[in-house]
Amino acid sequence: MTSARTTPSASREATLFPALYVHVPYCVRKCEYCAFNSAAGRSRAEQERYVSALLRETNTMLTQHGHTVSSIYIGGGTPTELEPAEFRRLLQGIGSMVERGHLREWTVEANPGTLTGDHVEALCSAGVDRVSMGVQSMDPERLSKLGRVHSVEDVRESVAVLRKAGIQRINLDLIYGQPWQSKEDWLQDLERLLELEPEHLSAYALQFEEGTPFFEALRQGRMSVCPEETVRRMFALACERLNKAGFHLYEISNFSREGQESVHNLNYWRNLEYYGLGAGAWGRIGKRRTRNVNSPTRYIEAIEAGTRPVEEEDILGPREDWMECLTSGLRTAEGVSLQELDQRTGFNTAGRCKEILTDLTRARLLHEDSENLRLTHDGLWLLDSILLKLFEAWPKV
Ligand SMILES: C[S@@+](CC[C@H](N)C(=O)[O-])C[C@H]1O[C@@H](n2cnc3c(N)ncnc32)[C@H](O)[C@@H]1O
Ligand code: SF4
Repeated sequence: MTSARTTPSASREATLFPALYVHVPYCVRKCEYCAFNSAAGRSRAEQERYVSALLRETNTMLTQHGHTVSSIYIGGGTPTELEPAEFRRLLQGIGSMVERGHLREWTVEANPGTLTGDHVEALCSAGVDRVSMGVQSMDPERLSKLGRVHSVEDVRESVAVLRKAGIQRINLDLIYGQPWQSKEDWLQDLERLLELEPEHLSAYALQFEEGTPFFEALRQGRMSVCPEETVRRMFALACERLNKAGFHLYEISNFSREGQESVHNLNYWRNLEYYGLGAGAWGRIGKRRTRNVNSPTRYIEAIEAGTRPVEEEDILGPREDWMECLTSGLRTAEGVSLQELDQRTGFNTAGRCKEILTDLTRARLLHEDSENLRLTHDGLWLLDSILLKLFEAWPKV
């Protein structure tokens, strides 16, 4: 695995202030594998009310906790499914409420099938500097099997339009481990994507999420999973090919050029504070973790009635905090700082997990590093079972 590095965007200073996440739960059409909180076919009238509600919630939250944030991420769903005028109103509104002095990154998610020149104009005039686009595959047949609304040409065009408008940081998402995808197909997807010269690439192994058409097809035997060994080989192939192209793996699914790591996502993986606004959004301020109601209509109604749209709320104790820090931090190349973890949770991790850590290092699943816990490539692949072993060191009483 690539050694941990600290580049400008990955520095600790970059994530000094909370991150701001804003959820837009709308899509043109629901992709058949996707379990994100998003729906297709909602009216323009609802979308307008939703944008107003989002702006109101943002105002309340920032007035209460402060207007300085390190990063903004408008995700979904598909934010570019909003009509350009509503999209612009959302971006201008959020932009006007945030104190920009410490803002290091502003990302908006987009879908090549919905991104128009007007959306791009709105992005640029609001000050968005990073766009993350769902591509999933660069092959027409695989796109259609995934239920995507766009073509390969749409992807190329969208990237060209963004570049022409001056967007210098582009992330492209791909999905591998599709049951019908060979290793050669996967390499072809990567090659075609590299031709577009993105600064950042997310490669997700396909998950069969409960409630999706893919999950149902699997249950009914109409679809099969890609063999584990093939998926693992695809991951290794991505690491090799992308390393050669100048990217490093800095999180289990994320590759970046030097200095192009996502500040916003690093904030999550470092288990720092973030505001979560919109339907179904998670937030974490201090030890308080919240989740808003999933339904966009219930969310709008709550905000319009002047009430909090929160459905779940808990205060994290030291043990839960420790588990969360390990769960998110061990996904990354930088790993988890033992000193910071113990200071934060009051646990003696190295002492209490000594035996497990020695075993993991001997099995080459953990790097030998006395300051940080960092998994190797093989370790990343076994993340879930490694976490379970570590958690045994701090049992629930
Ligand atoms: C919330 S989506 C945002 C992108 C945008 N909505 C689009 O699809 O064009 C974020 C990414 O999650 C990934 N994703 C969604 N469902 C997945 C699944 N079941 N397995 C693996 N990756 C998934 C896709 O790569 C997708 O681009
Ligand atoms: S993958 Fe993206 S476009 Fe497809 S349903 Fe999920 S959020 Fe919507």
